[in-house]
Amino acid sequence: MKDNDEIICNCLQVTRGEIIEAIKTKGLTLVDEVGDETEAGTGCSSCHGDIEEILKEING
Ligand code: FES
Repeated sequence: MKDNDEIICNCLQVTRGEIIEAIKTKGLTLVDEVGDETEAGTGCSSCHGDIEEILKEING
């Protein structure tokens, strides 16, 4: 199990757990939607690949 306290987006200091929570509760499917809900990925964009992976993990 991966660490939910890990910071996925360093720019906006958003954790894996926050991203997972937003995906599950709001039914998010896109990196842009995760950005709208959590601000993750709205800075330098270097975390977009990691956000994609989390989306795949949750949504299959
Ligand atoms: S690390 Fe997420 S936008 Fe820069």
